[in-house]
Amino acid sequence: MSNHETHESTDNVSPRKAVTRRQFLAYTLGGTTAFLAVFPGLPMVRFAVDALFQKSNSKDLVKVIAESEITNEPKEVKFQILQKDGWYESSPTLVAWISRDASGNIFALSPICKHLGCTVLWNVKGLNEYDCPCHDARYTRDGKHITVADAPLDEYEVEVIDGYVYLGNIIANRRA
Ligand code: FES
Repeated sequence: MSNHETHESTDNVSPRKAVTRRQFLAYTLGGTTAFLAVFPGLPMVRFAVDALFQKSNSKDLVKVIAESEITNEPKEVKFQILQKDGWYESSPTLVAWISRDASGNIFALSPICKHLGCTVLWNVKGLNEYDCPCHDARYTRDGKHITVADAPLDEYEVEVIDGYVYLGNIIANRRA
């Protein structure tokens, strides 16, 4: 077989199956570039949307105190919750002022002042009110705003189970 015959047989290869060196380089570089562009970004995309697919803890209740310890006099109760924010977990300490209303129902107020967010205390001035040390906002026993603040104190969702008080989410005050 001569060199001429060999060259002719190569030329008979179907043009559909032949990949030129230029095409091969283009495919290889294109594929590598696409991989490098997309793959490193996948973890960031996952991180950004992961929290959207996490189960909500909105129904979680925390056991905070025995029901028998709650009277008409507001009691400051501190408790911890497990908080998940995406990948970050923490256990912040929260405060609630828990007492009974005239009907004996237990309710729990958030201590966060609705003026600028300081922490209110019960009966500092002997007026049977919540007082804010920052700018003198005052609230009734039910959390209704009297001065300075323009909204009542929020309250916690409350459930009493087997003689213990459980607190849930903070919600708008329903009694003031
Ligand atoms: S933050 Fe409470 S009165 Fe201003």
